[in-house]
Amino acid sequence: MNVKQIAKGCIALGVAMLSGSGAVADASREAIAERLAPVGSVCLQGQDCGTQAAQADAESNAESGGGELDGASLYSSTGCAACHDSGAAGAPGLGDAEAWASRLEQDTQALYQSVFEGKGAMPARGGSSASDEEIEAVVDYMIAEAE
Ligand code: HEC
Repeated sequence: MNVKQIAKGCIALGVAMLSGSGAVADASREAIAERLAPVGSVCLQGQDCGTQAAQADAESNAESGGGELDGASLYSSTGCAACHDSGAAGAPGLGDAEAWASRLEQDTQALYQSVFEGKGAMPARGGSSASDEEIEAVVDYMIAEAE
């Protein structure tokens, strides 16, 4: 064995050790990630954090009659109550039949559209990020309360 061969051998051994330890590090990193995943799955903006699945659920609910969306609780959670409870800024109050009478002469679709696009002092979607289905559920609830 000459010096050149010994050097080659050392390099080969070095490479083997490097890649060997790399593999170990990867394996333990994976193991750590696996252990941590159920506890702290962090969701960053722009990632699909299960919201797509939730939306798909909402859509399929809407297709099957929208029965799963609770208009009454969405009315509060999406912020419609802020104006429609008090009648702020000329908003027709919840359950105020008089204020709703002329509006109910419109097609329900037109009422949805007013909320999607905004009307008068009401910003588009009432300023919320509610989906079409959620807004429709709230409007259905408001109509039912006004009748
Ligand atoms: C910033 C206050 C405000 C918020 C928040 C708000 N609204 Fe309104 N809303 C109004 C006002 C004011 C009007 C009356 C607009 C007009 O006729 O000029 C109105 C009108 C409406 C109408 C009748 C539209 C028509 O064509 O006559 C519906 C339906 C409605 N709102 C639903 C909602 C829903 C659903 C939400 C929540 C997603 C919501 N609003 C949030 C202020 C608000």
